[in-house]
Amino acid sequence: MTNQRVVLITGASSGIGKATVEKFARQGWRVAATMRDPARAPAFDAPIDNIAVIALDVTKSDTITAAFADIAQRWGAIDIVINNAGYGLVGPFEMTSDQDIRRQIETNVFGVMAVTRAALPAMRARKSGMIIFVASMGGRLTFPYYSIYHATKWAVEGFSESLRFELMPWNIGVKIIEPGAIHTEFYGRSESGPRDAALGAYKSHFNRIYTRMSSVGKRAPGPELVADAIWCAATDGSSKIRYTPNAGLILLLRRLFGDRLFARGVKRALRV
Ligand SMILES: NC(=O)c1ccc[n+]([C@@H]2O[C@H](COP(=O)([O-])OP(=O)(O)OC[C@H]3O[C@@H](n4cnc5c(N)ncnc54)[C@H](OP(=O)(O)O)[C@@H]3O)[C@@H](O)[C@H]2O)c1
Repeated sequence: MTNQRVVLITGASSGIGKATVEKFARQGWRVAATMRDPARAPAFDAPIDNIAVIALDVTKSDTITAAFADIAQRWGAIDIVINNAGYGLVGPFEMTSDQDIRRQIETNVFGVMAVTRAALPAMRARKSGMIIFVASMGGRLTFPYYSIYHATKWAVEGFSESLRFELMPWNIGVKIIEPGAIHTEFYGRSESGPRDAALGAYKSHFNRIYTRMSSVGKRAPGPELVADAIWCAATDGSSKIRYTPNAGLILLLRRLFGDRLFARGVKRALRV
């Protein structure tokens, strides 16, 4: 066995996950590109020998167990786990079904926790490792009609920031990535939530705001920007916890403006 480093990435079938697979594989890492349906794996633009496509649905514990066992057998220890899988539920809270809300929390929160817990025993035993959480700028500020998505990303922020202290004695690092708008399937096939008649009384207000927000997503930079930030978080050797690709300015304004001024800015920008 060589000393090539090993990274596991969830949600590697598209967007930020795919770009991160390519980034690490090009740098010579062994990459476990995990995804719900390996039969739909994309063509990775990176040395294919460094990549293993492995089934993992973050909401299905048997697939998590099997994926970790598979990687242990192929390559031994995992150096870094990147919790990237997730999607956005968008729509008026009142009109969103319990089923949709539960699925969002199952994926974006419980899924992240389950993958993290699966990674810890081996990292703790080796006193070495890192967990990287792809949260969002939406874990530190909010926009309209993403209430459940924001709830999940704020949960990930609190979870990971606290966990960081617990893992310090074991030399396991925690990093949080907070991307701003990035052009991926997040604004396409991954998005879910009520539409048309199901929007009820919110329909015209939602449609107006949603049109503005999704147009920002479609004009945003590509996922390589986030892959670069993840690479930096993984390798810079610093104690810095948060990385904010395409979100530095807005997060700074959020901090400087405080609640009232920031809310006024969002209201004006989105014509709420
Ligand atoms: N794009 C943005 O503007 C933005 C901004 C901030 C944060 N983020 C975060 O970045 C992460 C990646 O999103 P993206 O922008 O790259 O969008 P994306 O292109 O839609 O990728 C999302 C990935 O998550 C996977 N996924 C969804 N549910 C899953 C499950 N139960 N188990 C395993 N994988 C699952 C999808 O797999 P399938 O192919 O099977 O559907 C897909 O590979 C998400 O956590 C998102 O919240 C995105």
